[in-house]
Amino acid sequence: MGSVVIIGAQWGDEGKGKVVDLLAERAEIVARYQGGNNAGHTLVVGGEKTVLHLIPSGILRTSIRNVIGQGVVVDPRVFLGEIDALEARDALPDLRHQLGLCHRAAVIMPYHVALDKAREARLKGGKIGTTGRGIGPAYEDVAARRAVRVGDLLDPELLGQRLDRVLDEKNALLEWLGVEPFDRAALIAEMTALGERLRPIICDTGAEVRAALEGGKHVLFEGAQGVLLDVLHGTYPFVTSSNTIAGSVATGLGLPAHAVGRVIGIAKAYATRVGAGPFPTELDDAVGQHLRDTGGEYGSTTGRPRRCGWLDLPALRYAHALNGFGALVLTKLDVLTGLDSVEVCVGYRIDGQVLEVLPADEAQLVGAEPVYETLTGWSEDITGVRTFEDLPEAARAYVRYIEDATGVPVEVIGVGPGRSETLIRSDLWG
Ligand code: IMP
Repeated sequence: MGSVVIIGAQWGDEGKGKVVDLLAERAEIVARYQGGNNAGHTLVVGGEKTVLHLIPSGILRTSIRNVIGQGVVVDPRVFLGEIDALEARDALPDLRHQLGLCHRAAVIMPYHVALDKAREARLKGGKIGTTGRGIGPAYEDVAARRAVRVGDLLDPELLGQRLDRVLDEKNALLEWLGVEPFDRAALIAEMTALGERLRPIICDTGAEVRAALEGGKHVLFEGAQGVLLDVLHGTYPFVTSSNTIAGSVATGLGLPAHAVGRVIGIAKAYATRVGAGPFPTELDDAVGQHLRDTGGEYGSTTGRPRRCGWLDLPALRYAHALNGFGALVLTKLDVLTGLDSVEVCVGYRIDGQVLEVLPADEAQLVGAEPVYETLTGWSEDITGVRTFEDLPEAARAYVRYIEDATGVPVEVIGVGPGRSETLIRSDLWG
């Protein structure tokens, strides 16, 4: 099997970084294909925690190429900040060898960040709760054919031409929103200086990944966010601005559709969401707080407390339908330890009717009352367990219930935050 894609099967923050880290051992390339620095994963480098938002998770293994494809929106200031942080810890010995950034990727410009923040601040109700990183405004410009792309940062004249197509409009909008406008010359100076620093790693990542796959190399595609945040298939409008499903690997890197390979869905043993939007199984009670505290459910990008609730099986089945998971990884099973009983959502009561599928109409989901099945909890510490058979019977029954409800085997189970606190039932590379 040449390639594997890691997909967040819920609303993001499923623990994809740990799974990528696990799989990266045998990968030759780790590739990002969508999203931007709205994502975040924490790596422990030399005993110190480093949160990376753009650099793929394979970076700490020196033999691996880490590439960022044209489907990603890139904030050069953040990207270079991450490079600096890793270099300061001697964790990035050979930058040019390890990192590739697609010249076609769109740039998150300072005015995108300002617009994202100002628009959210202006909304009284109905805030999306974005990460404020400029993701939506940058993708808007891609679709509107007026983005600045990474390659444009290498030529001040070309960048000037690009800005002439957009800057007046951006500044007018920013002034209307009560924000300082941006100066053309200052932007060119700042952004081309960043471009010069990026020059050694700018390349054609699509050509590189295609060649790697043709040569039989192992490529790991690292998804960001989760299925329910997909701009077309998620809980619109409370979504991010990119496609997060496995289909976007091909468009985000420039690959034939058949190259996507094995699709692995990552799901937490419960559910979390950051930002606004419908979340039928959300718990506003002591159990919700228990999940938040025990699971450390605070955003790695914004630090916001995550909303917590029970596992939603119709939503997970929907994620499987959109992605065709060959396997599931169930993370943070240990967080459920100590609960007398564990609920799983098996349907929604909407207008007196029980629906066993996720409704397409977002308004219906808002009023949906979850229908639960109650399973027995367990109290034994499972963080030291390494085989499925050694899990308490109730924990095994919980996993089997999920497998039966989704029709997807749970091949890996997370039982603690550490790299080794993982129970592997079969090889995810297939
Ligand atoms: P944006 O992607 O910053 O525009 O935010 C849109 C929505 O997606 C908000 O609800 C964010 O909280 C959510 N979101 C974006 N990135 C992530 C992520 O990596 N994990 C979880 N939620 C995210």
